[in-house]
Amino acid sequence: MSVGLISNAKALDALVLFVEDSQKLLTKITDPSLQNSIQRPLKNDFKGRWKETLLVYPEKSPIAERVLLIGVGKTKSLTAHQIRTLGATAVHHLKNVGVTKNAAIAIPAGTKLSSSELAQAFTEGQILFQLGFDRFKTEKKEEDKARREKLSLALLLSDKKDLKIAEAGAARGKIIADDVNWARTLIQLPGGDLYPEKLVEETQKMVAASPSKSKIKAQYWNTKELEKNKFGGVLGVGQGSNHPPYFIILEYFQGKKSDAPVVLVGKGITFDSGGLSLKPPASMETMKYDMAGSASVLAAFKIITDLKLKVNLVALVPTAENMPSGHAIRPGDVLRMASGKTVEVLNTDAEGRLILADALHYATSKYKPKAVIDVATLTGACAVAVGEAAVGLFTNNKKLESALMNAAGEVQENLWPLPDFEDFYAAMIKSDIADIKNTGGREAGASTASIFLRHFVHNNTPWAHFDIAGCGWYDSPRDFIGSRGASGVSIRTMAEFVESHATKSF
Ligand code: BES
Ligand code: MN
Ligand code: ZN
Repeated sequence: MSVGLISNAKALDALVLFVEDSQKLLTKITDPSLQNSIQRPLKNDFKGRWKETLLVYPEKSPIAERVLLIGVGKTKSLTAHQIRTLGATAVHHLKNVGVTKNAAIAIPAGTKLSSSELAQAFTEGQILFQLGFDRFKTEKKEEDKARREKLSLALLLSDKKDLKIAEAGAARGKIIADDVNWARTLIQLPGGDLYPEKLVEETQKMVAASPSKSKIKAQYWNTKELEKNKFGGVLGVGQGSNHPPYFIILEYFQGKKSDAPVVLVGKGITFDSGGLSLKPPASMETMKYDMAGSASVLAAFKIITDLKLKVNLVALVPTAENMPSGHAIRPGDVLRMASGKTVEVLNTDAEGRLILADALHYATSKYKPKAVIDVATLTGACAVAVGEAAVGLFTNNKKLESALMNAAGEVQENLWPLPDFEDFYAAMIKSDIADIKNTGGREAGASTASIFLRHFVHNNTPWAHFDIAGCGWYDSPRDFIGSRGASGVSIRTMAEFVESHATKSF
């Protein structure tokens, strides 16, 4: 994303200008022909309402062939979330008229955001919006060419003294958005293309290409190592599939030696058929995204290591495919987990908690983490409760909760605490024959799942559980997410949390 000065702009195919709802232009324009062309709409039809757009063709302007006016509503209250959406809107409209290059955004004046925040948000919005997924399309239509090509709008500033920080903001935005898109692409890969070994391979490729490569320690446990470490949950869930399960361990220790690491744990079910407790077909359609938690923690790890931050961070991913077969676990089977606890598997579709249990045990017994966060498309109940709007949040630590709420606020993702009444919910997962069972029934399904996980969090480790079943997948485009599918929600919250809270204690 290039950054420059508005005063140097010339011969652009398109220039994007923002207007607030008092019909006030948010950029100083001196070129008379450009000024002329936008004067009449600004006096009349164009109100500057949120996301209102108008394309004008100035008569012989040396600056731009086209001017796209976009309304912002109230400038003062604009959030970075809205700036991302405006960046996406600009790209959307310009691509629709066939602009594919040589276009720019004039960064608006009068917001509460710094030039660096604005540059970051405009960059993120453009990149996140344009993620496509056409690798399985054999017919690439000529008329879609402009839409397929990535448009990168230069960012133009009025003030020379802001150039450096805007450049830094744009560079940061590019890393973050590219890494979020990396995860979204993995999430959208079909289960037949992305099974556990492939997730391992993609992780290996990511590490090999990292600018922090020499500082990352990676392990990929196969079946033998899972057996040696008694990972009964991961092995149990994986045993019904032809694709064996794995456990991914990424360590990056670049903070102070005395600082305990943050450990991120992600659910990596590459396809969830339900197992022998088979899902109905409609519920299975999107279950390739049951590894969204794993892609999210890997992407958060990628952001931190791409930015070369001085923190201590571990990412753990248990990954398996949940399939029915003659080898599959049966309803009623009892698994012995890595912690030694026994679990009666009454519903093989409640598999996420089984693989997370081993990973959480490992996280909280191997490391002395300052915090552990697990991320999972864990329960339909969470999706029912909050829809696409929020990450369902459970924690055992109030300070950690408030740090996470702050981090989410910083990047405008919604985290929402869900009920945690242990007295009620713990009883619901008692088993007659084993220590606990893997389902508490329909009622309070997100909460009983969280109570289940809590059994594997040792030593009072500050721990948070993100249920992204609802927000991990968008049924239709929204804001700056330009297409149906993986949203990437939770990644920027985790990265922000690690960046700004990794040196605190809870
Ligand atoms: N992966 C699903 C949860 C899910 C459902 C994610 C819908 C996204 C959208 C999970 O493994 C699952 O099947 N959970 C069961 C648990 C139940 C059997 C206790 C559920 O939520 O129905
Ligand atoms: Mn399931
Ligand atoms: Zn699942």
